[in-house]
Amino acid sequence: MQENNMHEIDDIKAAIEQAVKDIQSSATLREIKMKFLGKGGNIPSLMKKLKEVPPEQRPELGKIINALREWADARFNEVEKFVKEREMGARYESEKIDITLPGKMRKKGAYHPDTLIIDELVSVFAGMGFEIFEGPEIETDYYNFTALNTPKDHPARDMQDTFYLGPDMLLRTQTSAGQIRVMENKKPPIKVLSPGKVYRFDDDATHSPMFSQMEGLVVDKGITLCDLKGMLSEFARKVFGEGVKTRLRPSYFPFTEPSVEVDVSCFECGGKGCRLCKGTGWIEVLGAGMVNRAVLENCGIDPDEYTGFAFGMGIERIAMLKYGINNMKLLFEGDVRFLKQFKA
Ligand code: PHE
Repeated sequence: MQENNMHEIDDIKAAIEQAVKDIQSSATLREIKMKFLGKGGNIPSLMKKLKEVPPEQRPELGKIINALREWADARFNEVEKFVKEREMGARYESEKIDITLPGKMRKKGAYHPDTLIIDELVSVFAGMGFEIFEGPEIETDYYNFTALNTPKDHPARDMQDTFYLGPDMLLRTQTSAGQIRVMENKKPPIKVLSPGKVYRFDDDATHSPMFSQMEGLVVDKGITLCDLKGMLSEFARKVFGEGVKTRLRPSYFPFTEPSVEVDVSCFECGGKGCRLCKGTGWIEVLGAGMVNRAVLENCGIDPDEYTGFAFGMGIERIAMLKYGINNMKLLFEGDVRFLKQFKA
């Protein structure tokens, strides 16, 4: 057994001990392990050198080198276990969460009552086969009035106080303006529902300068007032409750002939008379009528071939009735204490 071989073995042991002494990470440990045990590492090259020693010494030296390898393996495993444990400890520490801390509450929004009503109406009427059309809020005098059989000198213009933007431009006072846009672009059969904002120079507990309407328009061959009544009765039952009845009262709109106001039996008292219906047992919900022949003609639809009906309702009014809101201002103030009560 050569003296210098033994030296080398001791040196390697000492070098390994030295290398793992202050080891910080398992990545460094892997490198060190490679250096000593990997291909071409110190210990395997020692094995290679075995060829150079006289044959009779080989078995003994071979054993010694094997023992060194085993020792090194065991030593690295030991160190690895220790380093890994320490690394895990550090990770647990850095990722520690305090489960006793109170959670962050996420504030949940709520839909505005107008939106809830619009969504409900859209789904009721979509179920009856209506399409949705949204017209512009800035309109020309023609679409908002003239084409709707309300020329400049027509007294019915006084029914709606209008915000004019110029001699011919205005903020639409009614979603009925959309009727013309639909009929100009689409030939019957027409079945359109048109929600949107409208503007009038008006401001008190039941009126706001900006509010929302929902317009309905049906044009086809053989449409009668009976179809209007049937469809609106169905709408009233779906929105206000199964037992609700509907009645039509004569009214006037320039663009419908005949025109009607539609009342529903009071869903609060069942028609006996209460505060909501002001003792009458009935609540007015919308205006409607058969599309005036002149309006059909203005849109290039032959009134001898086609007839139609239209209806228009105020969304805020429906919301106030349905949710028992007594002041329209609440719908425009954006006060979260009010709005959060309408979580759907
Ligand atoms: N546009 C009318 C209004 O704003 C309502 C209405 C619509 C009436 C359609 C009849 C037909 O008062």
